[in-house]
Amino acid sequence: MEKLIVANWKMNLNAEQARDLAADLQSAALRLETLKNCIILCPPFPYLGLVGGRLVGSSLLLGAQDCSAYEKGAYTGEVSASMLADVGCDYVIIGHSERRMYHQESSEIGLKKIEQAIKGGLIPIYCFGETKNQRLEQKTHRVIAEQLEILEALNERGGIIFAYEPVWAIGTGVTASSEHIQETHGFIKSLLSQKGFADSPLLYGGSVTADNARSILSIQGVDGVLVGGASLKFSEFWRICQD
Ligand code: PGA
Repeated sequence: MEKLIVANWKMNLNAEQARDLAADLQSAALRLETLKNCIILCPPFPYLGLVGGRLVGSSLLLGAQDCSAYEKGAYTGEVSASMLADVGCDYVIIGHSERRMYHQESSEIGLKKIEQAIKGGLIPIYCFGETKNQRLEQKTHRVIAEQLEILEALNERGGIIFAYEPVWAIGTGVTASSEHIQETHGFIKSLLSQKGFADSPLLYGGSVTADNARSILSIQGVDGVLVGGASLKFSEFWRICQD
């Protein structure tokens, strides 16, 4: 079955490296008759046009790493969802733990961003997950349920992707165990279906590499992966794309 493979480049690479990585991925994709998985690249804002330009003709898709909670106007430094759609984005990551941690973004702000994304014609990829301490205190389910509470206020039920990203697994080299992923994805899937999101894909993110991607993608309830560090090198990321 087709899986979603999302590359989150975060604040890495310069223009030349971004262009080259996109070009390498595009040529590799064009060499195949059909792509096994759906691949979405999320470069930093300034490189969206550059990377999008390289992807023309291939089936790789473009996404952004964030969008504004506002539609337009005097919000210095912000980028609206419709601007992202304008430069060729189809997707936008929202609520990433690094936004929550370094920019004090709450799930309520996430809700506003999700609403803006949908209104602007983008598919939001809503991220959530527990911290190390919350896990040690056995609060994983409670924290996730709280982070998903905002969904009650959403009018839309389709066109949204979810990403479970345990904070302790992001950028740490510590991947969650298969048992943890399967159990937590089972819990999240049942919560999502109670809320009317039974058909929404659920991704896993956190130290996914070329070596562990295949086994993670084979876990029941995992519809794809969100990849940070391992998405910055062509050979490593391309191996993940073909798993
Ligand atoms: P990582 O990041 O793959 O480097 O752990 C994942 C993410 O933050 O989405």
